[in-house]
Amino acid sequence: MPGTGIEAWTDRLRAVLGDPNGPLQRVIVLRETDSTQDAARRLGAGPGDVVVAWRQTAGRGRLGRAWADTGDEGIAVTFVIEAAPPERLAPACAVGAARAAEALLGLAGTEQATVGIKWPNDVVAGGRKLAGVLVEQADGVAAVGIGMNVSQTQWPPDLTDRAVSLVQLGARVDRIDAAASLIGAMNEALRLDDERLRGEFVARDVLAGRRATFRSGGRTITGTVRQIDPMLGLIVRTDRQDEVHLPAATTTVVSD
Ligand code: BTN
Repeated sequence: MPGTGIEAWTDRLRAVLGDPNGPLQRVIVLRETDSTQDAARRLGAGPGDVVVAWRQTAGRGRLGRAWADTGDEGIAVTFVIEAAPPERLAPACAVGAARAAEALLGLAGTEQATVGIKWPNDVVAGGRKLAGVLVEQADGVAAVGIGMNVSQTQWPPDLTDRAVSLVQLGARVDRIDAAASLIGAMNEALRLDDERLRGEFVARDVLAGRRATFRSGGRTITGTVRQIDPMLGLIVRTDRQDEVHLPAATTTVVSD
């Protein structure tokens, strides 16, 4: 029986990256680290490197939030790639994470809309968060961190209604399966052209048609989301019935 300890991770995850022309080339597995984002920087990781933590103790989320330590029930991975406009990177990574989750749930290629994307890059199922994506860029390099919930069956009270794991959705997978699927899916998603990326995002978009509040250019706007183009921006019908266009690059979701 193949091993499932940390020693087996490096071999299995490296085997996913067979294409010498793919954007991802090398995998580094760390036994324990604070944040894979910081570990990648400390290691001097460059484009093509993937840093995986067996255990991450101080993960970072978007907008200055923390990403809870998921112990041995979640995965934490940082993908180091060439810098790119955030309005392209965020949807590409969300699509990659969503494709991985769908494959692990046995939904790939089916019409079942179990896995969705909440703009710009939360991966959700049944209104609860399955994976989060953090894009950080500096010095011509992007570090894309993805955390995915794999085998949790219980959550702290503040997360019970907001988080979900692959196992809770019915997948029979372990963390190494999830990490392998995520790395393979990211290697493909990072190569999608704009048209395909837009289509894959829109097919999974869960925010269109819903009320939400956004910050954009110093303004707070509440209304119903009419349409999202992940790279160009959002069209929102405000409560005063005006239709406003919010650029993707400078807009954030405040609440939905
Ligand atoms: C979010 O939803 O706010 C983004 C969460 C991103 C968490 C991942 S886990 C791997 C990588 N390392 C970190 O410190 N954060 C990201």
